Amino acid sequence: MPSLSRRLLCLLPSAVALVAAASLSAQPAKKLVVGFSQVGAESGWRTANTESIKAEAAKRGIDLKFADAQQKQENQIKALRSFIAQGVDVIAFSPVVETGWEPVLKEIKTAGIPVVLSDRAVKVSDPSLYATQIGSDFVEEGRRAADWLAKKTGGQAVIAELTGTPGSAPAIDRKKGFEQALAKYPGMKIVKSQSGNFTRAEGKQVMEAFLKSPDAKQLTALFAHNDDMALGAIQAIEEAGLKPGKDLVIVSIDGVRGAFEAMAAGKLNCTVECLPQIGPQLFDLIEKVAAGQKVPHHVRVEEGVFDETQAKAELPNRKY
Ligand code: AHR
Repeated sequence: MPSLSRRLLCLLPSAVALVAAASLSAQPAKKLVVGFSQVGAESGWRTANTESIKAEAAKRGIDLKFADAQQKQENQIKALRSFIAQGVDVIAFSPVVETGWEPVLKEIKTAGIPVVLSDRAVKVSDPSLYATQIGSDFVEEGRRAADWLAKKTGGQAVIAELTGTPGSAPAIDRKKGFEQALAKYPGMKIVKSQSGNFTRAEGKQVMEAFLKSPDAKQLTALFAHNDDMALGAIQAIEEAGLKPGKDLVIVSIDGVRGAFEAMAAGKLNCTVECLPQIGPQLFDLIEKVAAGQKVPHHVRVEEGVFDETQAKAELPNRKY
């Protein structure tokens, strides 16, 4: 019969193993660390987009390193380099402009960090520089705006255009889509076009200048690349003693609450929807990419078109 101390000694290895297993299972799972560089806070759309991204990261327990680039590419490039230095698991960003990303994307690739593009696209010669991009079809949004305007005006319109940030994907693509569709309507033409940088203040300033030009009286319509610029332009139109939505038919893009309020008040005629609440889809992609799973190279967001006849009914449903 072995002594008590001998029997205890035999049990020791399994006890040690049990303690080790228990302490291992008590280890919290490693948090996913994501660096996100946002364009800025230029519009109501952007604010809603930022909220969606931050809320979704918090919900999933993701450690989000968020940087606001204040609409400057050099700030975004700095942020991306700092994410490399911090050794984040995934880098995501919404590129302020389309070009000029190759060098920093190559640095990220060399560091072995996957990249997910949010909302806007980039132009690069090597598509493997990013894993995936989620965003709207901006060309289609431009087409929808032109088709709606053609229907509303019977294909007759002298148009002023407020374009978005020069060099940005939505400004380039919305203009392209709008002009593609205009080709079907010989009675519609753009006679003025200038950037309002996607902001309400610059939209107002540019519209004031349009209205002061000697040929301003010929204008019958306004196409703004986003709602914020349209809302700024509406102020300028009213200050010039004209009736927005009547003297000038106005179509814009985004579908923010302020646009629905302006439509309900008869000052804006149509907004083409561009959904900013892409946080859940974005983080589904980020988690898959981090786990090494295959994802599509481009993911499109589904959207609609709303005009003044639907504004009052739709207003309570707007989430941004
Ligand atoms: O990239 C999406 C665009 O950026 C939105 O339409 C505009 O409001 C924002 O600034």
